[in-house]
Amino acid sequence: MANLSLLLATLLLSFSILNSTCLCCPEDQKAALLEFKSLVLGDLADNSSADAMLGGLGTWNSSSDCCRWEMVRCRSRGSSQEVTGLNLSNIFPLDSIVTSDVLTPIFQIRSLMTLDLSYNSMQGEILGTGFANLTRLTYLDLKDNNLNGSIPSQLFNLRYLEFLDLSTNAIEGKLSSSVAGLKNLKQLILDENSIQGQIPAEIGNLTNLHKLLLRQNKFSGGIPLSLLQLRKLETMDLQRNSLSGEIPDDIGTLANITILALSKNALTGAIPQSIRNMTKLVTLRLDSNVLSGEIPTWLFDLQGMKSLYLGGNKLKWNDNVSIVPKCMLTELSLRSCSVRGSIPLWLSTQTELTFLDLSENELEGTYPQWLSELNLGTVILSDNMLTGSLPPPLFESRNLSVLVLSRNNFSGELPETIGQSTSVMVLMLSSNNFSGHVPKSISNIYRLLVLDLSNNSFSGEFPAFDSDSLVGHVDISSNRFSGEVPSSFGVTILMLSLSQNKFSGQLPQNLSNLSVLQHLDLHDNNLTGEFPAFLSQLSSLQVLNLRNTALEGSITDGLSNLTSLQILDLSNNNLQGKIPSSFGNLQGMIDTPSILPTLPEIFSFPVEIQDLIVNWKNSKRGLSSKSLAIYSLMDLSNNQLSGEIPSSLGSLKGLKSLNLSYNQLQGNIPSTFGNLEVLETLDLSHNSLSGKIPQTFAKLQQLTSLYLSNNKLSGRIPESPQMDRQIDPVIYANNSGLCGVQIQVVCPEDVQPPPDSVPEEMEKEETGMFSWKATAIGYPVGFLSATAVMYVIGYFNSVSKSSAPRAKSSRSNKFRDHGA
Ligand SMILES: *[C@@H]1O[C@H](CO)[C@@H](O)[C@H](O)[C@H]1NC(C)=O
Ligand SMILES: *[C@@H]1O[C@H](CO)[C@@H](O)[C@H](O)[C@H]1NC(C)=O
Ligand SMILES: *[C@@H]1O[C@H](CO)[C@@H](O)[C@H](O)[C@H]1NC(C)=O
Ligand SMILES: *[C@@H]1O[C@H](CO)[C@@H](O)[C@H](O)[C@H]1NC(C)=O
Ligand SMILES: *[C@@H]1O[C@H](CO)[C@@H](O)[C@H](O)[C@H]1NC(C)=O
Ligand SMILES: *[C@@H]1O[C@H](CO)[C@@H](O)[C@H](O)[C@H]1NC(C)=O
Ligand SMILES: *[C@@H]1O[C@H](CO)[C@@H](O)[C@H](O)[C@H]1NC(C)=O
Ligand SMILES: *[C@@H]1O[C@H](CO)[C@@H](O)[C@H](O)[C@H]1NC(C)=O
Ligand SMILES: *[C@@H]1O[C@H](CO)[C@@H](O)[C@H](O)[C@H]1NC(C)=O
Ligand SMILES: *[C@@H]1O[C@H](CO)[C@@H](O)[C@H](O)[C@H]1NC(C)=O
Ligand SMILES: *[C@@H]1O[C@H](CO)[C@@H](O)[C@H](O)[C@H]1NC(C)=O
Ligand SMILES: *[C@@H]1O[C@H](CO)[C@@H](O)[C@H](O)[C@H]1NC(C)=O
Repeated sequence: MANLSLLLATLLLSFSILNSTCLCCPEDQKAALLEFKSLVLGDLADNSSADAMLGGLGTWNSSSDCCRWEMVRCRSRGSSQEVTGLNLSNIFPLDSIVTSDVLTPIFQIRSLMTLDLSYNSMQGEILGTGFANLTRLTYLDLKDNNLNGSIPSQLFNLRYLEFLDLSTNAIEGKLSSSVAGLKNLKQLILDENSIQGQIPAEIGNLTNLHKLLLRQNKFSGGIPLSLLQLRKLETMDLQRNSLSGEIPDDIGTLANITILALSKNALTGAIPQSIRNMTKLVTLRLDSNVLSGEIPTWLFDLQGMKSLYLGGNKLKWNDNVSIVPKCMLTELSLRSCSVRGSIPLWLSTQTELTFLDLSENELEGTYPQWLSELNLGTVILSDNMLTGSLPPPLFESRNLSVLVLSRNNFSGELPETIGQSTSVMVLMLSSNNFSGHVPKSISNIYRLLVLDLSNNSFSGEFPAFDSDSLVGHVDISSNRFSGEVPSSFGVTILMLSLSQNKFSGQLPQNLSNLSVLQHLDLHDNNLTGEFPAFLSQLSSLQVLNLRNTALEGSITDGLSNLTSLQILDLSNNNLQGKIPSSFGNLQGMIDTPSILPTLPEIFSFPVEIQDLIVNWKNSKRGLSSKSLAIYSLMDLSNNQLSGEIPSSLGSLKGLKSLNLSYNQLQGNIPSTFGNLEVLETLDLSHNSLSGKIPQTFAKLQQLTSLYLSNNKLSGRIPESPQMDRQIDPVIYANNSGLCGVQIQVVCPEDVQPPPDSVPEEMEKEETGMFSWKATAIGYPVGFLSATAVMYVIGYFNSVSKSSAPRAKSSRSNKFRDHGA
């Protein structure tokens, strides 16, 4: 006792000496914060002239009271103060790569109760030993960083936690329930094999949690039953992980939950009955799992329910049950729920509905008048069997922003009123039987960003858009449009597909104004004139497809200025002259950049919009999102190109496919082709190439489709494991004396007999040539860009209020790289 009072006295004394003048934050906490600042900023930290640019951190200087700094919150404690809150959201400077180590000084501030570190692109692991120090934490936000590893067990000792947000990180689902005692989490990582990929059962220790947000990580395994101990839980967001197993039967015991979001996992089983007891439920998101069984109709009896997402499961809608909803929904997704018959009439009672997704069902009948009068914001009815024409009131709505009716049997002409739908941003009507001309008023839709009219029977000329139009993505391919190639669009257009129409005449010079165009597809039209030199001014082009457009003349050298070009298809034309040797400089085909990391990595789209992209014309089938990012090809086949193949083409190391067939090329195959390390398809057939097949072909380890027939090649076919699989005689037919094991022709210089016939497992692999139909890589590219624009202007926030704002003030690297 005496000791204690002595201690207290000393403490008080030292406080009064140190803080005789003010009620300031403790020196040690101030020092810790300054150390943090200098770890984050490096040299900039001590540069007072830089402070103005640093935002909040700029106010952190040693000559002032840290409780007065921005982003710092204090609380008085006796005669002193202590730091209790730090809002360090989105503070790390542009382009800096910061690892979680920088938090080390923060871990000394044991009085902290709220800590917001969101939106910092911070890398590394969650430092368990550090957080273990912050025992008073009630609020911890680590969302939107690039953290990895697992949730350290020490986090579960933070028993006052009410708010835990680890969303949108790259935390891997490698969590252990037996990691206590580890001094350093890194040890745990080294011992990866012993770690279970589950949300640890200890999470049930955080009994004060109100909000648990773990969305968009890689958690796997089941939903731990211990979560049911978190009786105060109001929000449970586990969306976009890899969770499997069933939703706990008793989940309904969490009676205070208003938001239960489990979408985009691999959950199985039925929708638990107990959810019926969650009377406060407002948002239920179970979409994109593997749930099965019948959709319970009592879901519509939950009076507070507003947002109900059940789509993309194996759930079945019972058409026989009539529904009299007691809820007033604002959002409903029944995508792919076997809904049959006409669009359910009971929906007409849901007058507050803003989002409706009934895509991928078996709906028949017409677009009901009552639905068009509901003033919806988003209507997604794609992939059904709906018929008839669109009711004009649909386009009189000022609320409609997304209308997706692709792949139905709608017909008729678009109403002239279409231009009145001034809020429409996404209009996708592809693969229906719409016909007639496209009303000129469509170009008045100021906010239109994505327009997809492909695969219909539209005819006539396509209307001109103003140069200040925002439209970013226009696909009118596979129609019967005629007249001059449309070239009047907003200068921000990214993707333009005009293919498979009847456009004619010369390519208008106006196109060169579309300075950010990434994707231009004109294939299968009947153009006239020489190869348009101005195309080389479209410096952002990634995809250029002029296949089968009757172009003449020679390929301009300037095309090699298109440094982003990854896909070039000039096949089936009347092009003459040489292949420009400057093509070897096409940077986009050299180190084919990852235009797109993977779709979800770029933005956190609301589920539905992302699915739209994924299903985009089914074009991603056969192309993983990774290869989508790194696809590169050149097709100059079926022309009258002559001269030698420039050896510089061997520099295009990113090429997956090179087709120069059906030309009049002469000379040798450049030995530099051996450098095309990732080449999968090479077609040089039907030319006049002579000499030997370069020995360097042995280096082409990914080559699966080779065509060299109908040339004047001679000599030994190079041998290598990959070349030895190219055994189909058709590959080499009609040459001037090829020999080798592959075709079982003995080379003259060989004395020994040919080897035995090739073993069976060496059969030619199934590959199939690249075809535009099958892959159409640029569509998703362009669409994403367009959706990026939508993102910028805040569209997605309005679609899904629950989706976190992802735009980082000025500095999302991913976003910038994407060039939007
Ligand atoms: C301090 O920052 C300013 C503005 O960024 C810069 O111009 C100056 O060179 C910096 N000074 C030092 C010593 O780093
Ligand atoms: C420190 O910050 C205070 C206000 O926060 C400001 O008045 C003062 O000029 C700053 N001192 C230095 C050396 O930058
Ligand atoms: C931190 O500040 C940001 C704005 O800069 C704000 O959106 C966020 O809600 C704050 N966090 C906390 C925990 O108050
Ligand atoms: C925990 O806090 C104490 C006292 O503030 C400090 O000395 C220690 O370094 C901190 N531990 C960690 C792991 O940061
Ligand atoms: C986490 O990322 C860091 C680099 O950012 C890396 O050194 C570490 O190995 C990663 N840990 C795991 C478990 O992937
Ligand atoms: C969870 O709580 C139990 C008792 O409430 C305790 O024994 C255990 O150590 C805690 N586990 C963790 C990881 O905090
Ligand atoms: C549920 O919420 C109500 C009202 O907000 C509150 O009184 C009650 O304590 C909560 N229940 C639990 C278990 O936290
Ligand atoms: C719902 O709650 C009631 C009363 O608490 C309970 O008797 C019933 O079993 C619960 N229903 C389900 C399906 O869990
Ligand atoms: C609906 O009723 C029909 C005939 O009454 C029956 O054949 C069908 O199986 C029922 N469907 C469901 C999902 O119960
Ligand atoms: C439609 O928009 C109007 C104003 O623009 C708004 O008042 C109304 O609530 C919206 N209707 C729906 C269903 O969102
Ligand atoms: C292409 O256009 C030319 C004249 O512009 C015409 O003679 C030719 O028949 C057209 N070809 C096709 C296939 O329409
Ligand atoms: C291509 O770029 C070079 C150098 O940047 C420039 O001199 C040339 O005019 C460009 N060619 C075309 C056709 O734009």
